[in-house]
Amino acid sequence: MGKTYSIAIDGPAGAGKSTIAKALAKELGFCYVDTGAIYRTVAYFLDLLGVSPKDADGVERYLDELTIGIEYDEEGKQHMIMNGMDVSGEIRTQDISQKASLVSAYPIVREMLLDMQRDVARKNNVIMDGRDIGTVVLPKADVKIFLTASVEVRAKRRYDELIEKGQKAELSQIQKEIEQRDYQDTHRPIAPLKMAKDSVKLDTSDLDIAGVLAEMKRIIGEKIPV
Ligand code: DC
Repeated sequence: MGKTYSIAIDGPAGAGKSTIAKALAKELGFCYVDTGAIYRTVAYFLDLLGVSPKDADGVERYLDELTIGIEYDEEGKQHMIMNGMDVSGEIRTQDISQKASLVSAYPIVREMLLDMQRDVARKNNVIMDGRDIGTVVLPKADVKIFLTASVEVRAKRRYDELIEKGQKAELSQIQKEIEQRDYQDTHRPIAPLKMAKDSVKLDTSDLDIAGVLAEMKRIIGEKIPV
């Protein structure tokens, strides 16, 4: 197999990673891998079984019964398959966001998902987003970008997204949940959210989508021939 390129995008919840990565993947003809969706699928599976994300024994006991598939449709949209069932819609709730953050702290969960993520990157040109892509999953990624924004801006973006989808939302509650997730994701002992040493930091607080995209393309263009 020839050389494949990897672009790693990490950052806290609501920094705009998936919106930007999706658009870039389309433009560059790369495969977009949303790794948060994989952790969400684990959380959703355990939730269906009534296992609390804080119940370490329960998580360990039931993990064996979970098979996760990642599929892509003709439009390049990622679908999460949980034991044969497409759960791509079900995993997108605030409740599952919180639970995914908790289950992602277990080493056994991270280990189970590591090869799956690396395997996609071995076979395809990828733009992969998450929390530990540049530090752990793809430490040799050709481009590493750390996308961030103030917590107020991130909360407002999440709020707008949920309202647009017709879901109920309260801004102050969302900000609280984001702060809690930031804390959990940055303080866990295994693969915490942090900027890789060779990562380029991009604060998107004062940028619109077009502005972020332009800046990202400039950063990427300096590292790989696109
Ligand atoms: O990106 P997201 O909001 O869909 O991610 C949900 C949770 O999954 C996040 O709070 C922490 C966890 N996660 C992780 O630990 N490592 C990743 N690479 C991606 C997500």
